[in-house]
Amino acid sequence: MITAAAPIPATGTAEAAPVVAIRDAVKRFAGLTVLDRCSLVAQEGEILTLLGSSGCGKTTLLRCIAGFLTPDEGEILIDGRDTIPVPVNRRSVGVVFQSYALFPHLTVAKNVGYGLRMRGVPAAENGRRVAQALQTVSLTGFEERYPAQLSGGQQQRVAIARVLVLEPRVLLLDEPFNALDAKLRGTMQMEMRQLIKRLGITAIFVTHDQEEALTMSDRIAVMRAGRIEQLGTPEQIFDRPASAYVADFVGASNFWDGIASQGQVTLPDGQSVATALDGEVRVMLRPHNILIEPAVEAETGWRGSVRFRRHVGALMEYEVELADGISLRVVALRDETVARIDVGDRVALRLRDPAACIAFPRA
Ligand SMILES: Nc1ncnc2c1ncn2[C@@H]1O[C@H](COP(=O)(O)OP(=O)(O)O)[C@@H](O)[C@H]1O
Ligand SMILES: [Mg+2]
Repeated sequence: MITAAAPIPATGTAEAAPVVAIRDAVKRFAGLTVLDRCSLVAQEGEILTLLGSSGCGKTTLLRCIAGFLTPDEGEILIDGRDTIPVPVNRRSVGVVFQSYALFPHLTVAKNVGYGLRMRGVPAAENGRRVAQALQTVSLTGFEERYPAQLSGGQQQRVAIARVLVLEPRVLLLDEPFNALDAKLRGTMQMEMRQLIKRLGITAIFVTHDQEEALTMSDRIAVMRAGRIEQLGTPEQIFDRPASAYVADFVGASNFWDGIASQGQVTLPDGQSVATALDGEVRVMLRPHNILIEPAVEAETGWRGSVRFRRHVGALMEYEVELADGISLRVVALRDETVARIDVGDRVALRLRDPAACIAFPRA
């Protein structure tokens, strides 16, 4: 049977309403301003990472979204509704902490079902939802174990199942992999990203680890002293950092001080970097964007001598001291030419791609 066609939705250019919107949030502790007019939006289904050094306010912002803290000023909206008056247990927000905070005396199934029991969900439905949550995190069969009988990675997954079972609108994760060793951490990052994407849930993820942020995120908000310094995709943050701070924090960088005029700054290797700035600038030179050659074989380039070299798997990392006393870090694939360059050798440096260099105002 053919039914009447549904009305065609209006196709506006307006973006979908964000799931989480933070506007000018301010939080002070005893006179110390920890969030300083912080603004941020998370869109439906995205993994948004708060990246910043220890103490910049990441956990404070997350606790404000979860409702454990109330901002002194500003707004926190979830699905367009003011959330500040809504108590913690009524916000559809799930939080996974760094310490998993599992109950040691309860089995995996009881840990995961705890929140449902607190909400008065009947036993049969509780059991069904627990089973489903455990299946989601690949822990079917572990129902009767106790936390002490699980590995760190498995405990982490129980902590996630315990939150997912409540079907939150927003998942908040505060440095959830800190307790794991490096290898497991890498595996969990990829598993977690795939899981969140599969569920289509909106997630705000906190880390101080730039590589983890680049792995996990759809977008990254780089935080600095209680503010968002830059918000963008991992590519935007890495390739087009908005400030020297972001360039330094995300990925390795060299900085070279020069003078810009008439839309460009000329580097000592003879190549020019385009810039809208004028006067004293600081130019970002990524180590992998610098070509290194033995000085005798190069006609042009920035001359210097190798101070230090280090094998990094298939790569070689050099520290080159230049005539004017500054040092640059260079990373190159360990091919035949590069393998011949040793400590003390005279070398010439040249940019591979001047367009990838960015000039910032000198502070
Ligand atoms: N309850 C509190 N009372 C006083 N100061 C706090 C409190 N919570 C956090 N701070 C301070 O706020 C700053 C930011 O802390 P936090 O949000 O935990 O940073 P991050 O998670 O980025 O490491 C730090 O200087 C910290 O000492
Ligand atoms: Mg923290």
